[in-house]
Amino acid sequence: MQKFFHIVTYGCQMNVHESEKIAGILAELGYVSCEDISKADIVVFNTCCIRENAENHAFGNIGMLKKLKAEKRGIIIAVGGCLPQQMGKAANLHEKFPYVDIIFGTHNLHKLKDYVLLKEKQKKAVINIEDDNGIICEDDKPFRTSYPNAWVNITYGCNNFCSYCIVPYVRGRERSRKSENIINEVKELVGKGYKEITLLGQNVNSYGNGTDEISFPRLLEKIANIDGRFRLRFMTSHPKDFSEQLAKVMADNPKICHCLHLPVQSGSDVILKAMNRKYTSADYLEKIEILKKYVPDCAVTTDLIVGFPGETKEDFEATLNLVKKVDYSSAFTFVYSKRDGTVAAKMPNQIPEEVSKQRIMELVELVNSLTRKHSQHYVGKVVEILCEGYDEKKGLYLGRDEYGRMGYFESETDAIGQFVNLKIQKANGVSLMGERV
Ligand code: SAH
Ligand code: SF4
Ligand code: F3S
Repeated sequence: MQKFFHIVTYGCQMNVHESEKIAGILAELGYVSCEDISKADIVVFNTCCIRENAENHAFGNIGMLKKLKAEKRGIIIAVGGCLPQQMGKAANLHEKFPYVDIIFGTHNLHKLKDYVLLKEKQKKAVINIEDDNGIICEDDKPFRTSYPNAWVNITYGCNNFCSYCIVPYVRGRERSRKSENIINEVKELVGKGYKEITLLGQNVNSYGNGTDEISFPRLLEKIANIDGRFRLRFMTSHPKDFSEQLAKVMADNPKICHCLHLPVQSGSDVILKAMNRKYTSADYLEKIEILKKYVPDCAVTTDLIVGFPGETKEDFEATLNLVKKVDYSSAFTFVYSKRDGTVAAKMPNQIPEEVSKQRIMELVELVNSLTRKHSQHYVGKVVEILCEGYDEKKGLYLGRDEYGRMGYFESETDAIGQFVNLKIQKANGVSLMGERV
């Protein structure tokens, strides 16, 4: 009889891609993907714990599975990802949700096959978040669901220990894949018809550090030289490691998209220091200048945190000023969330919620006004977008241009996977509406 799996993903692109790896493992075990959770024989929650609300969200939804488990006793419920990988959380999850059958982490995702086979045989829950010595598994066969886009890991883990961040604790130390393996994976994907490749790592610029591997700019160059029509993106770049060499490579290789996600977090030097970001606002602006010297049309996006411990009104204003100066095309904005085990969690002067709320509202308003302004510049222009999907509700196809802007359009025929020229008629905040030309 056919067996079905259903995966729920929380968190970042890294997790989205890891869900594709989980799907690959389950497919190998004979399970078939299904949309309807109540039809599934195995449900996997791939969780995130970057902020408290991400964690609460996952906890709430795992709680709701109790009913499903009661109705369908044979169902296997598995919880993986960053949440169980936190110190003490796997035991905590098991205690709170005894009906969860498998608990695994980010370090041992590649062993999920063994855990499912074991669980199919035994009654007892399988709980394992073992470290496996930071092994890089090259055997996974991701079940990709995002054609024409494909994600490719280049590094795992993070060594930066930004004082607010849980990632180094749940993802382990930074390790780089062999360039040969990365290049072969991209070649294979391009050969299969994928049109956009995004290289993934917590800090892609430090690719190869501590090994005798090539540098990140050299890796990008090699990938950009692979034959075939495709776009190349990468994320995330840490400002401290962004180099002139990288800007040159971006300028010289047409396959590399002219957009850069360069998280600044704050515009205040006092806060940047307390965050352990290892650059000042002046250093950051200098990097932007270098980027624009080589790639003048580059769209820059960022991540911003408000309400970091000790953030004064002046610190916050410095953030607003920096945002205006850089003129970001868009940005992700977050309220600082205290994460147990991080350095910032023990800092005095945690900011009251009302103050953070006020600040985030002001920041979001500023970011939105910049985004709207950038979108308006598109009206009347022709842009090339890579069609990546169909929005059922809107009845429109959609895709992004090389700068990352989303464009919607009508099409009589299926356009997914095609490069399409759109004449932009209207800009709605972050997205564009155009006509195929
Ligand atoms: N490695 C990437 C992404 C890390 S997580 C980088 O360094 O940029 C994505 C974003 O979440 C971060 O850039 C940061 O803005 C935000 N973030 C991380 N920890 C946070 C916390 N404790 N509270 C609020 N935002 C946080
Ligand atoms: Fe977290 Fe900093 Fe590493 Fe990014 S670079 S994952 S923010 S510790
Ligand atoms: Fe990503 Fe969340 Fe983990 S942002 S690395 S899934 S904590």
